Amino acid sequence: MKVTVVGAGNVGATCADVLATREIANEIVLLDIKEGFAEGKALDIWQTAPINLYDSRTVGCTNDYARTADSDVVVITSGLPRKPGMSRDDLIATNAGIVKTVTENVVKYSPNAIIIVVSNPLDVMTYCAFLNANMPSSRVFGMAGVLDTARYRAFLAEELNVSPKDIQAVLMGGHGDTMVPLPRYTTVGGIPVTELIDEARLNEIIERTKFGGGEIVKLLGTSAWYAPGAAAAQMVEAVVRDQKRIFPVCAWLQGEYGMSDIYLGVPVVLGKNGIEKIIELQLNDAERALLVDSAEAVKGVMDVLDNMNAKA
Ligand code: NAI
Ligand code: 2OP
Repeated sequence: MKVTVVGAGNVGATCADVLATREIANEIVLLDIKEGFAEGKALDIWQTAPINLYDSRTVGCTNDYARTADSDVVVITSGLPRKPGMSRDDLIATNAGIVKTVTENVVKYSPNAIIIVVSNPLDVMTYCAFLNANMPSSRVFGMAGVLDTARYRAFLAEELNVSPKDIQAVLMGGHGDTMVPLPRYTTVGGIPVTELIDEARLNEIIERTKFGGGEIVKLLGTSAWYAPGAAAAQMVEAVVRDQKRIFPVCAWLQGEYGMSDIYLGVPVVLGKNGIEKIIELQLNDAERALLVDSAEAVKGVMDVLDNMNAKA
């Protein structure tokens, strides 16, 4: 299996490292626009192989898409973080320009790839990749829910002093403050979380989860990369090993949850064909209202991109 990771920055390099260390792909191509950057990161990862005992081959290249040809999966992490003085619309315009060019190049050399978008703002960048990929939506989707759920699960494990392995949870909606963690679908070793944590404390954990990305930015001055890189790699693994894992994924909705023409986080089955099924939960009225609010926020950002494209 061949996997390309576009963007050799913090998230991209971490994703490539996890893919190599866990031998999720036997060939990993890291590509960046910055001269020599991906080559350097890839060489460093490859030199870890004799220490960590794996044989996945990682190579780097500077904007040479021919080197990515016939990739089975491509992870797109290229993009700029928001800088001081930059409006949200400026960020969307800049990153959409990057994601558009990257997607066109990826598809030219790997027309049968599955594309996993990581670049922010996530829901709209996934939409941007879909608009430019000319592929079925089952093959173009975004990573956010695996990360957001991991944060929620980590906070719950800490609160209950139990293994994070035993926490299962579903989280839906956009990748932002409007995301919707679902306590009714959260269990600890099979026990409903509501039997173990009182409502007020659970709400505090949910609020911390919603702002989990910002908490790290405040501490580091930049966004997270270990968990995001590992989350993207876990999605790649589900595809290349045809695992049929159930993950919250940013997926194109066409009628599911009563919504259409929107990329939104929902539980799906991930396997060798990408999104093999979107799972429709029987949400109650309160959960549905939160999901609708989140969808409206995402739609607002998608409209910004549509308006930019209409003017171009
Ligand atoms: P970073 O700045 O460390 O890396 C981004 C890389 O993209 C840089 O090396 C840059 O040279 C490269 N790049 C820029 N334009 C390019 C192009 N046209 N072609 C190829 N490479 C290009 O940023 P980091 O921390 O790795 O984050 C990457 C993206 O992922 C950001 O947009 C960030 O906001 C997003 N992110 C998303 C998460 C999610 O849950 N979906 C979680 C964490 C980060
Ligand atoms: C995160 O959630 C900022 O999307 C980035 O860490």
